Amino acid sequence: MASHEGFVLWFTGLSGAGKSTLANRLVQEFNVRGYKVELLDGDEVRTNLSKGLGFSKEDRDTNIRRIGWVARVLARNGVIAITAAISPYAEVRDEIRRQVEEEGRAKFVEAYAYAPLEALVERDVKGLYKKALAGEIANFTGVSDPYEAPEHPEFVACTAEESVETSAERLLAFLTEQGLINA
Ligand code: ADX
Repeated sequence: MASHEGFVLWFTGLSGAGKSTLANRLVQEFNVRGYKVELLDGDEVRTNLSKGLGFSKEDRDTNIRRIGWVARVLARNGVIAITAAISPYAEVRDEIRRQVEEEGRAKFVEAYAYAPLEALVERDVKGLYKKALAGEIANFTGVSDPYEAPEHPEFVACTAEESVETSAERLLAFLTEQGLINA
């Protein structure tokens, strides 16, 4: 079994900013290395663990706390727990970080997938920005609902400027440098 510590790799960023893409790329890499890894992807979590929750602040906070709890439990058991939800509110992200750090059994790494809103609207992979801008979806993050960017993320991927491959390589280098994974 390849050796590595459990840790939480928490992606945050607007819809379409590349959280899931980068997360999946890392999962692939960790699988090749034989590391224990689980991905908690926002869209998938909302079809099971958080089924029925909407996009009010209260529901988003509940969603994020659930993801945070699962990630913490996985990480303290030696699994690399990667999360990919918008997680727009800094306070809840920090709450989860605190819980993980206070428990002291795993590290917490916040990774910000950043792209300017204009680029996301332009790309609009799911067609949701168009609808949100037309007022057809209420409380859409970045358009009609807040997104609080992390102030001190451990890692930033500028996804409008660099390829997934480049972001993944930089992130792997960072995790290696932190002693979380082997070179
Ligand atoms: S979070 O705010 O609770 O972290 P989460 O990552 O689970 O959000 O879900 C975001 C995804 O739900 C988006 O990528 C998008 O596909 C979809 N979605 C539907 N309605 C909204 C909305 N009002 N705001 C943001 N995303 C929405």
